[in-house]
Formats: sequence, structure tokens, C-alpha cells
Amino acid sequence: MINSKNDEMNRAATGHSEKRGQTVSVEGVSKVYQTAGGPLKAIERTSFKIEPGEFVSVLGPSGCGKTTFLMVISGLIPCTEGYVMIGDRKVEKPYTDLGFVFQRDILMEWRTVLSNVMLPVEIKKLKPVEKYQERAHELLEMAGLSGFENSLPCELSGGMRQRVSICRALVSDPPILLMDEPFGALDALTREQMNDDLLKIWSKSHSMVLFITHNISEAVYLSDKIIVMSKRPGRILETLDLSDLPRPRNMTTKEFPAFNRHINKIRHIFVNQGILSGGEEETGYVDKLS
Ligand SMILES: Nc1ncnc2c1ncn2[C@@H]1O[C@H](COP(=O)(O)OP(=O)(O)OP(=O)(O)O)[C@@H](O)[C@H]1O
Ligand SMILES: [Mg+2]
Repeated sequence: MINSKNDEMNRAATGHSEKRGQTVSVEGVSKVYQTAGGPLKAIERTSFKIEPGEFVSVLGPSGCGKTTFLMVISGLIPCTEGYVMIGDRKVEKPYTDLGFVFQRDILMEWRTVLSNVMLPVEIKKLKPVEKYQERAHELLEMAGLSGFENSLPCELSGGMRQRVSICRALVSDPPILLMDEPFGALDALTREQMNDDLLKIWSKSHSMVLFITHNISEAVYLSDKIIVMSKRPGRILETLDLSDLPRPRNMTTKEFPAFNRHINKIRHIFVNQGILSGGEEETGYVDKLS
């Protein structure tokens, strides 16, 4: 776990206080891919804002354009219509002051776990290196990867590889964190633990998080707001405000009436859209949108 002494060091080194990140404004964004079978519209005229320090999740069925969204926001691919602003800057090329956890881990196979995690520090030439190395070790310990610092990615399981990617995105303490289904490959228990660890990190770092998931209860547990998307082409069906779920979130959060109310509301939206069936004999819903 990240202790308070190191937390203070990080803060002193990065010079940040409360509510980090700049407002991200997505204005009328559409994305059309040119494919062999013709143009394919992935997302359609979506607009929303994320404020500094907010934790926002995007929930939507497979193929509705969630990854496309993150790629457009980070400037990794251009949009076809509309624009994205981060603070007062229009995103027109890859935006570097953010951490990105990709849906599929992209590790460098020839580098050890520790040197994969340290990659952003090298690329951004962050100093002092020792401080970031200490942080990398703490993150690896938190992710249950102590003892694997010198292993190569090919020696890890899929879930372990993804945890290395998460540590890499966090090591430079970025003000904006984009996470594309980061826990999809983890077993249920590890996933629950990672949810809590992510919340702890977020509450200390005060960064902005945009988190993609298929999992309704995970989104409700983690977020300040949830953006619910339609089938492709992805449009925003609804934005839910979860400020009635107090923080810090913990085991008791799941016992709050508001927790289940939000889950049911989202399920109803998906049932109305034909994305969830509503369950056999109305006994319940499937909580996975893939
Ligand atoms: N580079 C690409 N070229 C052409 N089509 C693409 C490309 N990337 C994505 N698509 C298409 O755009 C649509 C949205 O894809 P995207 O990966 O954004 O969905 P997603 O919501 O992230 O899905 P999942 O939940 O399965 O990860 C899909 O129909 C996909 O086939
Ligand atoms: Mg995706």
C-alpha cells in the first residue's frame, strides 16, 4: 500500500493539491472508420464534460465504441466530427500528460516487469528516478506482484500482465487516467480488491479517472458519474449522478438502497434498449454486457 509519507513526497514532487486534471470536454464527437466493407460509424454525436478530480465510468455493450472514445479523447486517433478539449487545448495529437491502461496489455516483452512499469518515467525523463522507482515497487506490491520485478512478461499470467499495465499507468502519478476495462482479465476476487486499491489511489492522487467497464455494479461502486451508452453507433443514453452514494466507498456501500437503485436503473435502461433481456421469468438480469 502507498503510505502517507510517500504520498506526501509524491505530492511535493509533483506539486499538486486537490482535484487534479483539467476539464475534459467532448463536443459533438462522431467517429467513422473506413473499413473494407465500407464506412462504419462507431460513435455518434456525443457530448459530455468531466471535471478535475472526477471518477467517471462509461458503461455500454460490446462494440458500442467505448475504446474508440478513449482513443479519440487521448488524441491517439482523430474524430470525424466534433472535437475534444482538455483544459483550453484542443486535442489534435496524442496528449501525453495522462495515463492509459489499454484493454489488452501492451507490455514490452524484452523488458522486465519493473522496467516496463518505469517506462513512462524514462520517456518523460521524470526526476528523481529513485522516488519513482520506490513508487513502482509500492504499486507492484499493491498489485500482488512483489517478487516478480525481474520477471519477463512471458513469465506472467494474463491477469498479472494487466496488473503490470495498471502500475505502469500510475507510476508517473498522471492528472488524468484513462482505463479501458482494466480489470476485465482478472478473477472476481482480485478484481474486487483492485477496485478498492484503485479507489484508495484515486482518493490520494486527486486525479481524474475515465473508466470503461462492462460491469454495472463495478461502475456504480467506483464512480461519481456513469455515462450509459447505446449499441453502436454509441450515443449517450443517460448520465447518472452517484453523489448520493457517500465516499469513502467500502463494503457497506453495497448495502445502501441507493446502490441497488442505481444498478436497477441502469439495468432498466439496457432492458429497454434490448441490450439485456431482463432475465428468464423475470428473476433477474445478467450483470455482464459482453
Ligand atoms: N481500427 C478500426 N478499424 C475499423 N473498425 C474499427 C476499428 N476499431 C474499432 N472498430 C469498430 O468500431 C466499433 C466500436 O469498437 P470499439 O473497440 O470502440 O468498441 P468497444 O465498445 O470498446 O467494444 P468492447 O466492449 O468489445 O471492447 C466496432 O464495431 C469495431 O468493429
Ligand atoms: Mg473496447
